[in-house]
Amino acid sequence: MPNDLSASAPLHRTTEPRVLVRVSDMGKQYRQNSPMVFENVSFDIHQGDFVCLIGHSGCGKSSILNILAGLEQPTTGGVIIDGREVTRPGLDRGVVFQGHALLPWMTALQNVAFAVRAREPAASRHAVREKAEHYLAMVGLAKAMHKKPFELSGGMRQRVGIARAFSTQPRLLLMDEPFGALDALTRGLIQEELLRICTETRQTVFMITHDVDEAILLADRVLLMSNGPSAKLAEDVANPLPRSRTRERMHHESGFYEFRNHLVDFLVRRSALVQSDPNL
Ligand SMILES: Nc1ncnc2c1ncn2[C@@H]1O[C@H](COP(=O)(O)OP(=O)(O)OP(=O)(O)O)[C@@H](O)[C@H]1O
Ligand SMILES: [Mg+2]
Repeated sequence: MPNDLSASAPLHRTTEPRVLVRVSDMGKQYRQNSPMVFENVSFDIHQGDFVCLIGHSGCGKSSILNILAGLEQPTTGGVIIDGREVTRPGLDRGVVFQGHALLPWMTALQNVAFAVRAREPAASRHAVREKAEHYLAMVGLAKAMHKKPFELSGGMRQRVGIARAFSTQPRLLLMDEPFGALDALTRGLIQEELLRICTETRQTVFMITHDVDEAILLADRVLLMSNGPSAKLAEDVANPLPRSRTRERMHHESGFYEFRNHLVDFLVRRSALVQSDPNL
C-alpha cells in the first residue's frame, strides 16, 4: 500500500471536525484467484461521528470492521487512525463482535473487569470493579454479573460484550450488528442509552447494522455498500434528522420518511444495480 495515504488531504482541518479515521482505496481478497470481496472503499470518520454501514449479507461489512480493528489486513489500500496506520489490534479501539467473543471461564464481571484492567493497568481493584459494574448495570445485567457465559442467554452474552467495549472508553468503538440477538425492548433501551452516551462523550462509532430504523436513530452518516463480490461503497448519506431524535418521536421529524425510503430503496433495488451503473 502507498506510504503517503495521509498526504492526499490534511488530517487536521480548521473548519471541520478532526478526521479520526481515514480509509483509503481499501480492497480485500481472501484467496489468490478468488474475486475481491470489496474494492475501492474510501471514507473518513470525523471525531465524534456515529457512522453506520449497511449492505446485504456477504458484501464484506465484517471484513471492513475487522480491518479497522486490526484483526485482518487489507489486500489494497489501508486505514489510518489518529495519524497512524492500522496494522494490529489496539486498546484505542473497542470491538463488539457479531458473536459475543467472551472468555468462557470468566464471569460477566470478570470479562468486563479484564478489559478495564488492560486499559487502565494502574487503577485500583476497587475502581476497576466499580467501572465494570457500572457498565454491566447500564446494559441491564446488574443481577447476572457473576454468571459465566454458558449460564447466560445469547442476548445477555451480547450485552456483556457491549458493556466490555464501552467500559474501556475507546477512541473508536467498532460494533458489528451488536443488537441483532436482543429482544426489541432491550434493543430499544440500549440503543437510546448508546445514543445518549455517544452524544455526551462525543464517542466516535463505526457500526454495522441490517436495521434501517436503527441506523436512522443512531447514525450521523450512513454508508451504503453494493452487493458483493467486488462490492463498492456506493453512497455516503448524511442523516437529516436532528440528533435529539428518539425512537418514539423520530418518525414525526421532517425528512424521516424520505430518508428511510432512500435507504430501503437502496437495499431493495440500487444495491444490486451499482455494479452495472454507478449513477443509479
Ligand atoms: N476469514 C475468511 N476467509 C475466507 N473468506 C472469508 C473470511 N471472512 C469472510 N470471508 C468471505 O468474505 C465475504 C464477506 O464476508 P463478511 O463476513 O465480511 O460479510 P458481511 O457483509 O459481514 O456479511 P453478514 O451481513 O452476513 O455478516 C464472504 O463471501 C465470506 O465468505
Ligand atoms: Mg458480518
